[in-house]
Amino acid sequence: MELKQYAFKPFNKDTAFETWIKSEGIPILREFVVRDVRTVEVGPWARTGGKGAWLMLNTAADQTATTPYVCEIPPGRSLEPEKHMYEEMIFILDGVGATEVWVDEKKKRTFEWGPGSLFAAPLNTWHRLTNGSGQKPARFLALTNAPAVFNLYHNTKFVFENPFVFDDRYEDEESEYFSGKGEQKPGRVWDSNFIADVSRVALHDWKERGPSARNVEIELAHNTIAGHISEGRPCVYRKAHRHGPGAFIYILEGTGYSLMWPEGKPMKRYDWGVGSLFTPPNRWFHQHFTTSKDPVKRLAMKAWGQKYPIGGWELLDKPTDDGGDMIEYENEDPLVRRMYEEELKKSGVTLQMPPVNYKKRA
Ligand SMILES: [Fe+2]
Repeated sequence: MELKQYAFKPFNKDTAFETWIKSEGIPILREFVVRDVRTVEVGPWARTGGKGAWLMLNTAADQTATTPYVCEIPPGRSLEPEKHMYEEMIFILDGVGATEVWVDEKKKRTFEWGPGSLFAAPLNTWHRLTNGSGQKPARFLALTNAPAVFNLYHNTKFVFENPFVFDDRYEDEESEYFSGKGEQKPGRVWDSNFIADVSRVALHDWKERGPSARNVEIELAHNTIAGHISEGRPCVYRKAHRHGPGAFIYILEGTGYSLMWPEGKPMKRYDWGVGSLFTPPNRWFHQHFTTSKDPVKRLAMKAWGQKYPIGGWELLDKPTDDGGDMIEYENEDPLVRRMYEEELKKSGVTLQMPPVNYKKRA
């Protein structure tokens, strides 16, 4: 379809990104925790040819880096082809289908996907998603860094009709690009362009975060935005940490809750289960707890990775006592552990962590 240049007005109280998503005419969810993105109501989306909803969680200040959306492809249909100057990472929630990617129309590459697939069309390449089922809709969750791009350039022609080719990220000749191949890198990183099923990616120990913490960091398509898959075993919990905005957590398996709080303010508790999505607000501490008897698996889609870092990474595993952003167990509010112990009692199990000698709190 033909894209109309959107006329951004100066001195608007909304950001350019927010102005633009309002113009799209699809639902905009503004919840703190989306209980289940698999059942979020989606509306007809003329630009994409599918149905969708933007997920504008928390406040605009928490959405300066990245914003997700949900999209449904009707049975037997394809979305409109598109290319854009923002990065996008796609996670398949439900359904099967295929994606075509190209720079030159005569050299299209196609790969197939199913539930649990994670991939990214390289920056500003043409791509088109097709539902492989004639009966059921296919639904995906996408993370974009569109807010950063819209707010900087506030020009839809620049974003959607830009002829620049990022040949440092992708060339039509790269026949293996979406084959699922990848490389293991230091820092628990899996560097690839296509993951058939996120639940099958090998996890690695992450001792700094606490007993039995395991995860894998995901880099896709030479993007700045990245992801990770984390496991949260029951009866143990990780240390709290904080960072800037732009990390969205999707629950793949299990149930539990998160504590989140801005420094010096009371903790708030948010319960979640499979399909839930939330984003810790800018610089809020957050800490996740598993209440199901099987481990929780989380997929994080976030504004930053390790391949093309944007800063702040070095503070994540550094204790707050040393100027970092991670709270050691002995610095934690004792309420954190007490609450989890109470929670575990309900299922007849007990905490499997050594006792803590709490430091005197200032
Ligand atoms: Fe985090």
